[in-house]
Amino acid sequence: MKRVLVGMALVVAGGLGMVSFSGAHDGKPMPLPDTKDVIAMRHYLMENVGDNMKEMGEKLKAGKIAEAKVNAQAITLHSLRVVELFPKGSTSETSKAKEEIWQKWDEFVKSTDTLKTEADRLVMAIGGGKADEVGAQMKKVGGSCKGCHDSFRKPDEKK
Ligand code: HEC
Repeated sequence: MKRVLVGMALVVAGGLGMVSFSGAHDGKPMPLPDTKDVIAMRHYLMENVGDNMKEMGEKLKAGKIAEAKVNAQAITLHSLRVVELFPKGSTSETSKAKEEIWQKWDEFVKSTDTLKTEADRLVMAIGGGKADEVGAQMKKVGGSCKGCHDSFRKPDEKK
């Protein structure tokens, strides 16, 4: 999966103006962006959701089911914030948010709700401790990511 760090800009002293960075996301910690910058915030949040999915997958592979609970819970909590990070018309050159988000707002909101429901079910499945059920539910969570991305996120441009 190509992950591009977008929306990061730095004002360089000396009047060079804005320099934007783009590079592969390698899981290195980043400082929390300005919380008023919704586009930077949602990138930060989505990256964290992605990191949680990845870590959860690794824990499941290693048979550490109970340890995946915090990751599933983090995704549930993040899902609650998605709506507020997409105020009407909040796009930019670096944002992959599609106009359809605001044209089909109810559908978009429902997508965030599906993520919440599936992630919450994952928390419960982890509590149950059965690897096959956890694996199946994780796939459903992944499906809810894809469902929203397919409708509301612009595809990666080819390198
Ligand atoms: C309700 C819709 C929705 C759901 C559900 C959703 N996403 Fe996203 N995601 C988006 C949108 C829209 C963008 C593009 C935002 C932008 O560029 O402004 C995005 C961007 C991303 C990015 C790229 C962030 C960046 O730095 O550019 C990652 C990674 C990501 N999502 C992972 C996930 C994962 C993993 C899940 C499921 C666990 C998920 N998303 C669920 C809508 C969603």
